[in-house]
Amino acid sequence: MEQQTQDIVIETRKLSKIYRRDEFEVVALQDADFTLQRGEFVALMGPSGSGKSTLLHLAAAMDKPTGGSIRVLGDDVASMRDREIAAWRNRHVGFVFQSFNLIPVLTAHENVELPLKLMRMTRQQREEHSRTALELVGLGDRLGHFPRQLSGGQEQRVAIARAIVTDPDLILADEPTGNLDANSASEVLTLLRRLNEEFGKTVVMVTHDPHAARYAHSVRYIEKGALLPAGQTPTDWAAVTPMAANSAAS
Ligand SMILES: Nc1ncnc2c1ncn2[C@@H]1O[C@H](COP(=O)(O)OP(=O)(O)O)[C@@H](O)[C@H]1O
Ligand SMILES: [Mg+2]
Repeated sequence: MEQQTQDIVIETRKLSKIYRRDEFEVVALQDADFTLQRGEFVALMGPSGSGKSTLLHLAAAMDKPTGGSIRVLGDDVASMRDREIAAWRNRHVGFVFQSFNLIPVLTAHENVELPLKLMRMTRQQREEHSRTALELVGLGDRLGHFPRQLSGGQEQRVAIARAIVTDPDLILADEPTGNLDANSASEVLTLLRRLNEEFGKTVVMVTHDPHAARYAHSVRYIEKGALLPAGQTPTDWAAVTPMAANSAAS
């Protein structure tokens, strides 16, 4: 049983998020049952406003559910206190945003180093880890560049280096290729796939793009706040066929 529990990275039961403002209610997510095994790479697809980011934010403990339960890496993240959450997230989750979210006045190296400042580490260790992460994403020669001196694809790879620098088990990527041209997008997708296959990272990637979704092992669909059961495709969508293992780079 213990082993089984450890192999589950995300487990939600009837997870719901309802936004209330005055007398208005927006049901962003309703009764979502989602189980994600360690080592999985799942794409989350659905129209704009269907609750994809909401689910990702709940999994990253960036937001609190209004109903149901969620455990991430065995932890009941909804009941954690705010002070614990930042350290927990820093250690366990790497979040990748559509708009990169790099800090413009910091170099690539300094951006990537940032999460390590919350950890107990010497300056030299931080520099080493940051350099290693940037080398891994193919930007070992851009350490001193500022975000404005990089292409969009390079910026997103710096953001991925920042997401993995603390060696988290889980990577959550919210439309990571949404702002990129096709070539940069495929570099980023190949990188995410490599982090999954070679480094064992568990990945959830939100995407609109069926081509991007093929880099994942499986696809889950969400419609109007309802997460469809695994294996179910909305009637008006063509099912995405994931690429075979180890073929993403070719
Ligand atoms: N902070 C918020 N306050 C009120 N409504 C919100 C908030 N965040 C998201 N929503 C609403 O919840 C629904 C789902 O949003 P979201 O999860 O961002 O969708 P997606 O990522 O699939 O485009 C949308 O109707 C959105 O307008
Ligand atoms: Mg979104």
